[in-house]
Amino acid sequence: MAAVVLIGSQWGDEGKGKITDFLAEKANVVVRYQGGNNAGHTVVANGEEFKLHLIPSGILYENKTCVIGNGVVIDPKVLLEELDYLAERGIKTGKLLISSNAQVIMPYHMVLDGLEEEARGEHKIGTTKRGIGPAYMDKASRIGIRIIDLLDKEEFAEKLRRNLVEKNNLFVKVYGKEALKFEDIYETYLGYAERIRPMVTDSSLAIDTSIRAGEKVLFEGAQGTLLDIDHGTYPYVTSSHPIAGGACIGAGVGPTRINRVIGVIKAYTTRVGEGPFPTELLDKTGEEMRANGHEFGTTTGRARRCGWFDAVIARYAARVSGLSDFAVTKLDVLTGLDKLKICVGYRVNEEIITEFPQSQKIFKQCQPVYEELPGWQEDLTHVRRFEDLPKAAQNYVLRIETLTGVPATLVAIGPGREQTIVRGEIF
Ligand code: IMP
Repeated sequence: MAAVVLIGSQWGDEGKGKITDFLAEKANVVVRYQGGNNAGHTVVANGEEFKLHLIPSGILYENKTCVIGNGVVIDPKVLLEELDYLAERGIKTGKLLISSNAQVIMPYHMVLDGLEEEARGEHKIGTTKRGIGPAYMDKASRIGIRIIDLLDKEEFAEKLRRNLVEKNNLFVKVYGKEALKFEDIYETYLGYAERIRPMVTDSSLAIDTSIRAGEKVLFEGAQGTLLDIDHGTYPYVTSSHPIAGGACIGAGVGPTRINRVIGVIKAYTTRVGEGPFPTELLDKTGEEMRANGHEFGTTTGRARRCGWFDAVIARYAARVSGLSDFAVTKLDVLTGLDKLKICVGYRVNEEIITEFPQSQKIFKQCQPVYEELPGWQEDLTHVRRFEDLPKAAQNYVLRIETLTGVPATLVAIGPGREQTIVRGEIF
């Protein structure tokens, strides 16, 4: 019996898709548990690049059951497009299960996401405008439409009508925009429902059955710790729970079933959207990281902000998710830099703090306290054993372990499946 949760330890984009893909080889079941198509996973499998947003990366292997759990918000149009995209590329998608309790992203959620961002002006969050926040708002307001509602014509019609009254009031009276029409949405979404219907199930039960049968289950987090709505850099966060606890809620599994929690962490730091970022580099080194690491969003194409590794964030991620292991990614991107910096604390006014601050006002004032390590010039992408890495690269990883108290069990030195150094068993 093995259930492993894999999460992002920074602000998302840590390379979770690649590590999920690597671990999925040994898993029987791969589960998405939160977020929606705000996520973007780039996976290189057998030399081919795949970009996924909603469907678990495990889909690229034949015979893996993939599950979209109840905690995910699903844009059915995007889901079906992704299924078509995979089918066109010869990937079988017959073993995809969808939770009947997952929430549906409706057209008014996307409209609202855009309008709210515009209204925030200089306080904008920098959302992906995929309707994620408004869909989770409706879930919390208990007016959301679940997948199971979509499969029932009468239920769907009734809930859609009620929602449109409320949303159109907002669109017309507050934002001075046009109202959305019931007819324009209803038939289209019923069409989506018919394609989705065969995949819909009680996914919590399906996962539990697999765990009890001794199968290996991998829970694939989207976004990252600092985008968690409770534990992240609020309000510059997403509307779900990317931390490990989110897997229990978003998939319907109890915490006692989870055996291991892997935190995927990039060898440096990136962030998209707005908000403070103490180790951000606005110079040539930051530009080099962006260019060498291809740091442009899979979902929105936005350039990611880049900076040095932040061990305060790494330790915080280890704490709030109870990490048992790190998977350090993109170590190869740091090749060529003379000196590397790791942030080990923050200076706030005259004080040095070493724990992640609760207050965003304080986080905004944090100046990084760095320690310097020597860099390396050798290409890492062909290395397959840790001891074959240049000494400076080994020391960099070992320093991360010491600063966080978490072993770096996996180290990625390129995007390919085989470009992963394994220092211990996961499954
Ligand atoms: P939302 O999830 O679209 O509401 O966006 C809220 C914040 O989360 C914004 O700063 C986004 O840039 C960020 N975000 C959402 N999904 C991702 C992701 O997959 N990677 C990195 N940032 C993300």
